[in-house]
This record gives sequence, C-alpha cells and structure tokens, in this order.
Amino acid sequence: MLGNFEFCNPTKIFFGKGAVENLRYELKYYGKNVMLVYGGGSIKKNGIYDKVVEILRDCGKNITEDGGVMPNPTSDKLAEGAKIARENEIDLILAVGGGSVCDYSKAVSVSAYCGEDPWEKYYERMEDVTNPIIPVGCVLTMVGTGSEMNGGAVITNHHKKLKVGHVFGYNVFPRFSVLDPEYTFTLPVYQMKAGCYDIMSHILEQYFSGEDDNTSDYIAEGLMKSLINSSRAAVRNPRDYEARSNIMWTASLALNTLIAMGKTTDWMVHMLGQAVGAYTDATHGMTLAAVSMAYYKKILPCGRARFARFARNVWGVQDSGDEMQTALAGLAEMEKWMKEIGLVMSLKELGVKDDMIEGIADATFILDGGYKVLTRDEVIEILRLSM
Ligand code: NZQ
Ligand code: ZN
Repeated sequence: MLGNFEFCNPTKIFFGKGAVENLRYELKYYGKNVMLVYGGGSIKKNGIYDKVVEILRDCGKNITEDGGVMPNPTSDKLAEGAKIARENEIDLILAVGGGSVCDYSKAVSVSAYCGEDPWEKYYERMEDVTNPIIPVGCVLTMVGTGSEMNGGAVITNHHKKLKVGHVFGYNVFPRFSVLDPEYTFTLPVYQMKAGCYDIMSHILEQYFSGEDDNTSDYIAEGLMKSLINSSRAAVRNPRDYEARSNIMWTASLALNTLIAMGKTTDWMVHMLGQAVGAYTDATHGMTLAAVSMAYYKKILPCGRARFARFARNVWGVQDSGDEMQTALAGLAEMEKWMKEIGLVMSLKELGVKDDMIEGIADATFILDGGYKVLTRDEVIEILRLSM
C-alpha cells in the first residue's frame, strides 16, 4: 500500500549533448553576481571551465570564483565559502563539478546568511533553514550522488571525525541542473565505477524497506536493471554515450525523492560508509561497496521475502521454491556484478586499520527504517567482516 505522501521536485533539468548552452537563457532569471564553484581543477583541463566562463561573460555576469572544493567537502571550507558568498552579495551559486561541488554549493547557499557556525546549526543540531537562501544551479561533471536534483548536502568535519548529511527542503534543491553525459567522459574510471555503485546503493537503501506492493519498488527495479546493463557497457567502453547517458539519468532518478514515496527507507549502508569516510576520506561510492555485502548478509534473514523478489526481478534468478535460497542467490549475483565492474570490496583497501574500527562504529548513526535495527556490536561485526 502506498501511504499518504507529498511529492515535489522543483529542479529543472537540461539534459544531453551541448545542454550547457541552455544557460544562456536560464541565467537571465538571476541577478548579476554569480559565484562559480568548482573542485580541484578537472574542469580547467577538460574545457568545461572555459565554456561556462564564456557563457557567464556573454550574459554580462560578475564572476566570483570559489575553486578548490575537495572530494568530501569540509566544514572549514564551508565557513570560507559562506563568507565569500555573503561579502560578494552573490545572487546565484553555479556549481560546476560532481556531488562534492554540488553539495558544498547547497551548504554555502543556506550558510551565507545563517549568522552562526553552519556546522553547528545544520550538522549538529540539524535545524531547518530560517534565513535567506541563495539559489543554486549545477553543471554536473561526475555522476552518482543525485545531488543535482535533491536537497542533500554532506559535509565532513575532520576535527570531530564526523561526516554528516543534512537533507534540506525543496527550497534548497538546485533551481536547475545541466546534465551533459559527454562531460563525464574525462572522469577517471575509478570514479565512474564508484559513482555506479553509489547509484545502486541509493536505490537499494530505498528498495530494502517495507514489504508492501508499492509502485516505488517497480520503478526501483527498472532503474537497477538499467544501471546493471549500462555499468557493464560503460566499463567495457567508458566513451559509450548511450551507457553514460543512461547512468546519468538513472543517478538523478535514484535520489530525487521519487522512489522514496511510500517507503520507510533504510540508509544504513550510507551511515556505515560515511563513518568510514570520516576516518579515511575514501571515495564515497567505494566506502559503500566495501561494507555492503557484510551488511546485506546480516539483514537478509529479516527481509527475506524482499531479497527473494530482488533476486527474481532484478537478477533473473529462478525461484527455487525455497525463499532463503532464492534470496541468497540474488545477493550472490550482485556480488558477482560488483566484482566484475571492479569495485573495492574491502575496507583494508580503503585505508581502514583494525584500530579504527571502534571509532568508526562510534561515528556510525544507527537508523531504524530498514529490516533490522543494528546494535553497536553488530556494527562492529559488519565492519570487521568488511575488512
Ligand atoms: O575536484 P576535481 O578536480 O573536479 O576532480 C573530481 C574529484 O577528484 C573528479 N571529477 C569530477 N568530474 C570530473 C572529474 N575528473 C575528471 N573529469 C570530470 N568530468 O572526481 C573526483 C570526485 O568528485 P566528487 O564530486 O567528490 O564525487 P561524487 O560526485 O561522488 O561526490 C561525493 C560527495 O557527495 C556526497 C558524498 O558523501 C561525498 O561527499 N553525497 C551526496 C549525496 C546527496 N547530495 O544526496 C548523496 C550521496 O550518498 C553522497 O553521500
Ligand atoms: Zn551515496
């Protein structure tokens, strides 16, 4: 049964080859002062920076640059960005990059006028936004997080060894996002693979909750099938436009709230992965891949009907008549696919040491929307099995 829900996604999408040209029309809806936010420099090497600056200049905008946003953006960088945005009376924040740049831009947009330490307000006390918000637009260059079409903004605090996501409301979603699959061609293959698993994980976090017959689950199964096919094709040939375009749109649909409708949603793989990220700064998608199998094997007995459905509908496993056996066969197929596309399957490879396990467990927020509420001992068990 689908319970009552409210659905709204205000992000306008410009999709396809050359989609950046749409900025020439879109930018007229915003004031003169644009803050151009980007990462460590990939956009300067692949020409995306030059193209965006050309369009901003043609549109008569004043550009304030804020580069150097690191993967897994930090609370220190956020405080700097908020100051830049405020002092330059920014009218639009234009994020050109991956999830880190998009997340950071949304965090800056709510922090510029918050009047206090944004980490404490949004990431410790989890307060709502009560101050003016600067609009954000995105030009996406790395696919996976769905940040281009949602209100999430994940920030890492190295002083406190915490990586925390705040899911802001519709007013913080990007106003528009440019999605050109060709912009992802220069992405290192490691990042492409990590992005593919991030997408899979987003879908699973929503799919593995509840037992009802729910439209969201049918959409989720379709998205997973598309992702499995396209990820295989993209690993074979990273310049396969069809595959890269399918992956790009699947990523947005996987985490734009659509498939969360009527679901309690789990998110424990992300809680584990984020805690690992706080300790290692490892690539987000790979932290999820490394903990997934141990986590899913642990919760499978509590959600075996759904795991059996996953096996049949997503992986084409023949129903053996034994629900548990079918469920396990589905998970085995997923593990095969993960290895085939080359994901990191162990925490050791990401730099986790045995003496970090207790601290990572302490940094793992335990949520209750999935099939099993973990104890701290079970978190430690999953982390150890993931080593
Ligand atoms: O910084 P540059 O030089 O641009 O290089 C980046 C970075 O090193 C590079 N890259 C991006 N596009 C490229 C490119 N290199 C060559 N060509 C291109 N076209 O890729 C590296 C990784 O980029 P990053 O933005 O860090 O990756 P991703 O998109 O995976 O974002 C990760 C962040 O998003 C958060 C993660 O926790 C992490 O902090 N997430 C945000 C979510 C949300 N808003 O809903 C949900 C996710 O679960 C996730 O937690
Ligand atoms: Zn994710």
